[in-house]
Amino acid sequence: MSFLEDVKQGLKNNPKRIPSKYFYDEKGDYLFQQIMNLPEYYLPKMEKKLLKTYSKQLAKKLPEGTINVLELGAGDGTKIVILLKALINDTKKLNYFSLDISESVLRSNEQFIKSKVPNLNYEAVAGDYLNSLLKYSKIEPKLLVFLGANIGNYDLKEAQKFFKFLRSNCTLNDSLLVAFDLKKNPREILAAYDDQAGITKEFNLNLLKRINLELGSNIKLESFAHFPNYNPVNGETNSYLISLEDQEFKFNDGSVFQIEKFEAIQTEVSKKYTLKEINQIAESSDFELSFKFTDSNNSYLLGLFKPV
Ligand code: AVI
Repeated sequence: MSFLEDVKQGLKNNPKRIPSKYFYDEKGDYLFQQIMNLPEYYLPKMEKKLLKTYSKQLAKKLPEGTINVLELGAGDGTKIVILLKALINDTKKLNYFSLDISESVLRSNEQFIKSKVPNLNYEAVAGDYLNSLLKYSKIEPKLLVFLGANIGNYDLKEAQKFFKFLRSNCTLNDSLLVAFDLKKNPREILAAYDDQAGITKEFNLNLLKRINLELGSNIKLESFAHFPNYNPVNGETNSYLISLEDQEFKFNDGSVFQIEKFEAIQTEVSKKYTLKEINQIAESSDFELSFKFTDSNNSYLLGLFKPV
């Protein structure tokens, strides 16, 4: 579906909901880079630490010889670089396929990875990473990598569906590495999505800015509030935009939508997992969690899955 169709469909929903993938236009990419450096946004720091500590061990768990690393939603390459270095040092011949929707992000990725790990074979694959994976699924042995706790942007059911899709594109020689943000002190989680500097607020509101720019609307950004909410029962952080007045949107195809004062548009889910849920996802999709690497507080987890 196009951006316009997705937004129109989402605004007809009850509750209103716009898919979070639309955060990432050029401004959204830039704001997300800033989020990654915020003191409250603990996720990249935890992931980096785990990769630094465990990449060598991880490399030993993979088949000998050539390995094809396919990173889904690779971003600027700063997450995977530690692992790629460890794989090369383990004398593996390394082919790295960087899959991302954004061509501009892939340009930075290529420059960065080639400068840091010069002796690997590099291929950038622009486009929806699920479609791209279909094209590359015959390559073996693969290590599929999904970092950044991006799995959290799926709810539990969607995550199961995603794992099943990955499994259908894997053979028994392949492996899957996924980073999960785990349940922890709710206040720490909430602060990560409601930072003092207001960057996450700007990131959320940028979705409306994008609608104005690309869909010809005239939404007043100041009439919306950024409101993240963590539910410690199901582990979901939901981010909302709350309308502060009754208002009407128009799109360039002539359609009109109303939103009431204090009505919410859900813009993102960032799910925090338990180990039990991770095992359930694996079981339901014919993977097993063969190794897990966590910090001493069990705050973040790198899971290595093998198809069964
Ligand atoms: C990309 N994703 C894992 C981030 C998250 O934590 O859900 C996106 C994000 N949204 C607000 N801050 C960061």
